[in-house]
Amino acid sequence: MVTNLNKTVCVIGLGYIGLPTASLLGTKGYKVHGVDTSRHVVDTINEGRIHIVEPDLDILVKSAVQSGNLTAGLEPQKADVFILSVPTPFKDNHQPDLSYVEAATRTIAPYVEAGNLVILESTSPVGTTEDVVAGLLKDVGHDIEKEVFVAHCPERVLPGRILTELVENDRIVGGVNKLATEKAVEFYNTFVRGEVLVTDSRTAEMAKLTENSFRDVNIAFANELSLICDQEGIGVWELIALANRHPRVSILQPGPGVGGHCIAVDPWFIIASAPESSRLIRTAREVNDYKPEWVIEKVKRSADKFKRPTIGCLGLAFKADVDDLRESPAVDIVRKLINDGLGTILVAEPNLHEHTEFDLRPYEEVVSASDIVLLLVDHKEFRDLRASDLKEKILIDTRGVIV
Ligand SMILES: NC(=O)c1ccc[n+]([C@@H]2O[C@H](COP(=O)([O-])OP(=O)(O)OC[C@H]3O[C@@H](n4cnc5c(N)ncnc54)[C@H](O)[C@@H]3O)[C@@H](O)[C@H]2O)c1
Repeated sequence: MVTNLNKTVCVIGLGYIGLPTASLLGTKGYKVHGVDTSRHVVDTINEGRIHIVEPDLDILVKSAVQSGNLTAGLEPQKADVFILSVPTPFKDNHQPDLSYVEAATRTIAPYVEAGNLVILESTSPVGTTEDVVAGLLKDVGHDIEKEVFVAHCPERVLPGRILTELVENDRIVGGVNKLATEKAVEFYNTFVRGEVLVTDSRTAEMAKLTENSFRDVNIAFANELSLICDQEGIGVWELIALANRHPRVSILQPGPGVGGHCIAVDPWFIIASAPESSRLIRTAREVNDYKPEWVIEKVKRSADKFKRPTIGCLGLAFKADVDDLRESPAVDIVRKLINDGLGTILVAEPNLHEHTEFDLRPYEEVVSASDIVLLLVDHKEFRDLRASDLKEKILIDTRGVIV
């Protein structure tokens, strides 16, 4: 492993990616200054505390802050390495919203000096590192050919395992030119135990989008099967289990839709830049986006059998055993059921204490009071439910966990 200590790093954006990265580097000998536009985030970190939920992050941040190797502020400082880890959402029309990357680049531009390395870690459409980050730095007079090294290194950590995966995962690193690639590879080799894979910035950007589109397309296949099986009166879970016994078949599991801020978002970056050529990726997005509507229709058909049913919705998170509600299809489904006035809607989400919009109840209470039980997330608590205990109720299990 290359040693590169006593160097300074400035991390822009202290969320799920930026804060673990900043605090990890702070405990690996780097002097790190983190920047966020939120005063609350900055103050919390400077007190050695955290504002997001991630195992062991509190200990790491506390130790980095107490050692003096991690500070947070609203303004950047001069550094050897700048890391941009700001959001990259899409706009209403599914076009990428690069305003955060642009703003972050403009923020660091006055602090960047010859010899510095600037890394974009945000998941980005192909060309963003070259056109937006390097482009803006060039516009304000930086020599991005020989003096300032700009690279992309997409982040592929799994929430809940971020601190482990930041170190253990293989990383894809691509600069806007050869020299930038070399400098970025050297930097990641100081703290990554996985392999650092070398490419150019455009391929690195596309690699991350490809990984998430692969997942999305394969989930769409499972979701489409679930619709077909419902029509044909076939149990989709049994069908998939049987088909997966083929040595070269590995079908993923259907669900109520696809959520989270990665898989439901990133394929749109490919579609936006190559709309004519990405027909399969677009169709997969549409299939997955349609699934919540299909679930709602199914609930409506069951609700018609009652005068005013009580519908118990189990789970709000976008996947099992997390409290993350970003882009969660479960939230959209519950909101729509309430707005449609289908009956009394009860909601349980064991990973949250409260919710601004929904009155959360213990799941046992929700199940017992409901005429229709709608399972939306395969949280471990719900896996203990048995179909034999729900005989008097209509069960709509979008995750196939209740047997
Ligand atoms: N969270 C994940 O699991 C994950 C995994 C892989 C990749 N990513 C990608 O990493 C990037 C960051 O995601 P995240 O989950 O950390 O987002 P986040 O919303 O948790 O954090 C982003 C932070 O950036 C701050 N910010 C916004 N604009 C800023 C600016 N101009 N200057 C300084 N701070 C600014 C926000 O206040 C926020 O605290 C995104 O591109 C995302 O797609 C995330």
